[in-house]
Amino acid sequence: MAVLTNAPKGTQDILPAQSGRWQYMENTLLRTAELFGFREIRTPVFEHTELFQRSVGDATDVVQKEMYTFEDKGKRSITLRPEGTAGVVRAALQNGLLGGALPLRCCYLISAFRYEKPQAGRQRQFHQFGAEVFGPSSPDADAELISLCNEICSALGLEGLRLHLNSIGCKSCRARYYEALRAFLSARADKLCETCRDRLEKNPMRVLDCKSPICQEAIEGAPVMIDYLCEDCSAHFEGLKKRLELLGIAYTVDPGIVRGLDYYTRTVFEFVSESIGAQGTVLGGGRYDGLVEELGGAPTPALGFAIGLERLLMQLEACHADFPEENRCDLYIASSGEEAQQKALQLCTLLRQEGFITECDCMGRSVKAQMKYAGKLGARYSTVLGDNELQGGSCTVKNMEDGTEHTVRLDGFTESIYQLLLEGVYNGIIEADPSKD
Ligand code: HAM
Repeated sequence: MAVLTNAPKGTQDILPAQSGRWQYMENTLLRTAELFGFREIRTPVFEHTELFQRSVGDATDVVQKEMYTFEDKGKRSITLRPEGTAGVVRAALQNGLLGGALPLRCCYLISAFRYEKPQAGRQRQFHQFGAEVFGPSSPDADAELISLCNEICSALGLEGLRLHLNSIGCKSCRARYYEALRAFLSARADKLCETCRDRLEKNPMRVLDCKSPICQEAIEGAPVMIDYLCEDCSAHFEGLKKRLELLGIAYTVDPGIVRGLDYYTRTVFEFVSESIGAQGTVLGGGRYDGLVEELGGAPTPALGFAIGLERLLMQLEACHADFPEENRCDLYIASSGEEAQQKALQLCTLLRQEGFITECDCMGRSVKAQMKYAGKLGARYSTVLGDNELQGGSCTVKNMEDGTEHTVRLDGFTESIYQLLLEGVYNGIIEADPSKD
């Protein structure tokens, strides 16, 4: 395959024809999160590898198999971020944000990188919108975060997602669970993949989300964490369910959700679609009460989620959600001759300063070819400038949809176009061309 004209496997171009949908999703996500008090944070695309080893976890698929890690020229081990949470926690610690007013609420739009087997909804470079909250330990915060996910769905007109909810407890209740899970898995060790046999001792819960089909079969009937919750974790989970019911947010308790990253404690959740194929988890998140401390900060409860934008778009298209109409050219000014071309350029500049999308010729094409191009652009209005128009001081502006034409004077052109495009009224400077009645 030609290297120069083919992007690397697992990456995707977002072309001009699609970028409007992406901007719409991104703006809606940021705006909805803003309503809950989130402000955007931007962190580097790459971090020290150790950050992900310590946070996402040494025994996870992400760290063991999927990271884009390289040595830079200074011989540091660097990794392209496989997710956003670790970088946000690092940035919050480095910049003393957790010593300020809590709760701290940050959100982000990022590219992330995982060396996975590409398929529909699974790429090596993908995009996430994420939100993180630092400070609160009460289930009120969990419910509020899930409520943000719900509001995002409403704001985008997203249908067909189901909230799956679980609790994977804390360090103390997990010890007892690990014992039971190890006993169950050890009896089937010969049916596990090699990586999972290693994981048995280190972190048996990672076996539960191994993607290998042989492991998936071997874990059938394994004990589930939710049956081993300590009193506090259990009360937290009950508290969350009660609040979700109060908010009218439907959920399914799904003991199978363990998430693929090590930092989670207590609440974990996913919004899952049935209509976009095998990679149906559009959104995933949960609490990570131990991560700030793990990375060197004071113990700070925290929680968050991330949405995969590629999967979000697939789901929006699958449920035939409405996307706003794309912005298009308001006025195309065709020209014939150098003087007219320069006038067109001048008028375009003035109109752009007023916020109108305007284009004129920069290819030296015939008026006919320019008008063909204006048609392809889907321009709302067009006009042609030539010697006659320059001498007469006015031109004919044509509505490209209904064909109506208006004579518009060149002095005061911007004001006239403003009225024509935004208000559809004329103050005398513009006159409907009587000869066209
Ligand atoms: P995650 O479940 O690994 O969680 O990823 C979140 C979402 O990113 C997934 O539900 C999916 O939509 C999308 N995603 C993940 N991998 C890929 C891929 N290879 N191709 C396309 N989309 C993908 C996290 O990343 C956590 N940081 C979420 C979080 C934030 N938890 C707490 N705070």
